[in-house]
Amino acid sequence: MLDERKRAEAEYPSRVSDEHRRWLETKPFRGERKHTVRHLIDVGYVVDLLELGPESTFLELGCGSGWLTRYAARCGADAVGYDISPEMIDIARAEAAREGLSARFEVADMETLELEPRFDRCLIYEALHHSPQPLDVLAVARRALEPGGLLLVAEPNWSQRFQGRQAAEEFGTTELGITPHRLRRLFRQAGFDDVRRFHSNRRRLYGNRPTEIAMHLLEPFAFRVLAPFRAQVWMLGTAAG
Ligand SMILES: C[S@@+](CC[C@H](N)C(=O)[O-])C[C@H]1O[C@@H](n2cnc3c(N)ncnc32)[C@H](O)[C@@H]1O
Repeated sequence: MLDERKRAEAEYPSRVSDEHRRWLETKPFRGERKHTVRHLIDVGYVVDLLELGPESTFLELGCGSGWLTRYAARCGADAVGYDISPEMIDIARAEAAREGLSARFEVADMETLELEPRFDRCLIYEALHHSPQPLDVLAVARRALEPGGLLLVAEPNWSQRFQGRQAAEEFGTTELGITPHRLRRLFRQAGFDDVRRFHSNRRRLYGNRPTEIAMHLLEPFAFRVLAPFRAQVWMLGTAAG
């Protein structure tokens, strides 16, 4: 039996508009172009940071409609996604079947899931902020990973508490967000070493105009100053031996 908070998460897809439902089915395509672009760039970061390939055993917690798990399968990974929402999992399975992918999907609570340590890659993408118990979720990831396995978390920062207010009021979903400082501490508490933070500007292309070159050179400094206000936190850690 799910409590009220988790039931709201599980029932979310049945309560959204038809248009939003279509977005869940076609994600990352056929929504607003800016979202398609940001998600496609993010896929590249995920493949790169997790070094995904045919040898990988990949786990995603809070996979939603499973579009990233399906990308991992396209890279050749043995890929499994878990989500608390049966409807999300139905969409994920239907899309994987339609695309002829071997990705598998199961309904599960990422705060309590018990998995054998058989994975070498784990992803949590825009899902941790739906849990008031993020340490439990990272502990699930740690137990599922072999020593030396990689965990990548990409999450909205603390501003999600404000940006997600409308969804929280309308659907009862949990919208928390996290600071990089806290996320790093949680990684360590959950048993991850070599924790690294990344800044994502989602703009790898820049032109030859002097202003664009100057912006590119200044960017690392600007990121340091503006880091607390950046919209997303990317963090990678290695499961301790
Ligand atoms: C913002 S969506 C992101 C989904 C997916 N990662 C994506 O990028 O499309 C957050 C997801 O977390 C799931 N979720 C929330 N609480 C959960 C829990 N306790 N266990 C598993 N999944 C959960 C929701 O059902 C939802 O699919």
